Amino acid sequence: MTHHRRGGWYPGRARRPALSPVPGPAGSDTVEVPLPGGLSNAGHVVRRGDTVRRPMRPTSLATHALLRHLEEVGFEGATRFLGVDANGREVDSYIPGDAAIAPLPAWALTDEAMVSVAGLLRAYHDAQATFDPSPYRWPLGAPKRFGHTLISHNDPCPDNVVFRDGRAVALIDFDLASPGSRLWDVACAARLWSPLIDPADVPDPRHGRALQRMCLFLDAYGLPARERADFAEVVLTAYQWCYDLVARQAAEGHASFVPYWFGGGAARANRGMSWLEARRGEIDAAVLSSE
Ligand SMILES: Nc1ncnc2c1ncn2[C@@H]1O[C@H](COP(=O)(O)OP(=O)(O)OP(=O)(O)O)[C@@H](O)[C@H]1O
Ligand SMILES: [Mg+2]
Repeated sequence: MTHHRRGGWYPGRARRPALSPVPGPAGSDTVEVPLPGGLSNAGHVVRRGDTVRRPMRPTSLATHALLRHLEEVGFEGATRFLGVDANGREVDSYIPGDAAIAPLPAWALTDEAMVSVAGLLRAYHDAQATFDPSPYRWPLGAPKRFGHTLISHNDPCPDNVVFRDGRAVALIDFDLASPGSRLWDVACAARLWSPLIDPADVPDPRHGRALQRMCLFLDAYGLPARERADFAEVVLTAYQWCYDLVARQAAEGHASFVPYWFGGGAARANRGMSWLEARRGEIDAAVLSSE
């Protein structure tokens, strides 16, 4: 993907005052250390002191407005947007802790870790309820038939959640956040965290517990019964949405998506979709009976 530098789509200066000096050991505020975890901007996301610098996108103005709102309402569960640096990069607060990066460590595989993600996602949805997204241009969102009732994160994958002591403390990487719904985000997250994929691809303690964990996620989030009808349909649509996004970037030759997708990602996703498709009925029955 092209990494956009400061351009016509973003005001030349951040609306914030200049960045304050970063505390830390001598020199640490100028050293840039690449952070592992993502694919979209792999190699371009760096830690510098207590900040993270990452490339901007044509829709960054919207993302930054959302992050500012979260700060204004005192929401602690998201990275803070601190401004734009001299190189036209987004500057976010560095969240101390560990993102859940593959291969997932044992602490990321527990039910407690997943339940804490559900709680964090719920808290995020509640915190953004008073945000007005209408002035901004957002990335392509969830299909309208699932509702455009809030700004969903859309990418609540393990490496976009920072943990401390085995519990989720903050969401990061709001690049894909866009109009969607609670249900859409819950479907994305439940698929990724249960995970709802072929058990052959889950060689760890979560193996064989996908539907049980899915119900646990929905209950921990507090998804009401009236929103659970046709849950499998939402999960499958959200999976396809994500699939298309990655497949398109791989087809366009993105340096990180190409090896990921053609080196096993596509085959895994196809297996996952078939597995899900075959379990629509089971999934719908399980979510309705669990609340
Ligand atoms: N604010 C932050 N605080 C702490 N760590 C962070 C922060 N932002 C990013 N990271 C770390 O850097 C990694 C990559 O960041 P990021 O998710 O922004 O990259 P990306 O390439 O855009 O990801 P994706 O492929 O999910 O779109 C994360 O997985 C996490 O380990
Ligand atoms: Mg990421």
